[in-house]
Amino acid sequence: MGPLKLSKFISESEIEKRIKEMGAQLSDRFKGKEVIAVCVLNGSFVFYSDLIRAMDTDVVCDFFGCSSYGNSMKSSGQVKLTTDLTTHVEDKHVVLIEDIIDTGLTMSYLQKMLKIRNPKSLTTVTLLHKPDAKKVDCEIDIVGFEIPNEFVVGYGLDYQGMYRNLPYIAQVQNMN
Ligand code: IMP
Repeated sequence: MGPLKLSKFISESEIEKRIKEMGAQLSDRFKGKEVIAVCVLNGSFVFYSDLIRAMDTDVVCDFFGCSSYGNSMKSSGQVKLTTDLTTHVEDKHVVLIEDIIDTGLTMSYLQKMLKIRNPKSLTTVTLLHKPDAKKVDCEIDIVGFEIPNEFVVGYGLDYQGMYRNLPYIAQVQNMN
């Protein structure tokens, strides 16, 4: 599939197990409360749809569209909001759900954007975190897996729009 040479890095069953744990953590935190679960498009849609179904509480779904990578493997350094939320988050519990935190730019931008709207609480969840790539500080409450500073694809993550439908996370072997 596609032009890249890939090796499986995080398997379907490891992802499934970790998402159950993350869902249980969120269910405990928000027991009996309503939360607005915000998906950061495009990359998070696969993780998001599995995570919200692992959350045993009232969930309202909403979406941020964001782009910073264009077609390359390096962040452009500029975050662009392509779709805004349709719900009002003031006085609501918001859970921001991201696929991967790399430089931290996207997350720090989105957190600022949400905080000025005065939510009751803001919880940030990411499936993957590359601590060695961090350039900008952002608060992260729940991390699925910490990974090395290497490009990964699959399970929603793309390279040039491809590989999002891989059911596992793979590392790219032939990257220069
Ligand atoms: P950040 O703003 O640098 O933290 O990057 C966040 C966004 O970059 C994520 O939402 C992803 O869409 C994309 N991204 C970062 N690292 C990777 C990767 O290894 N593979 C695919 N996309 C990535």
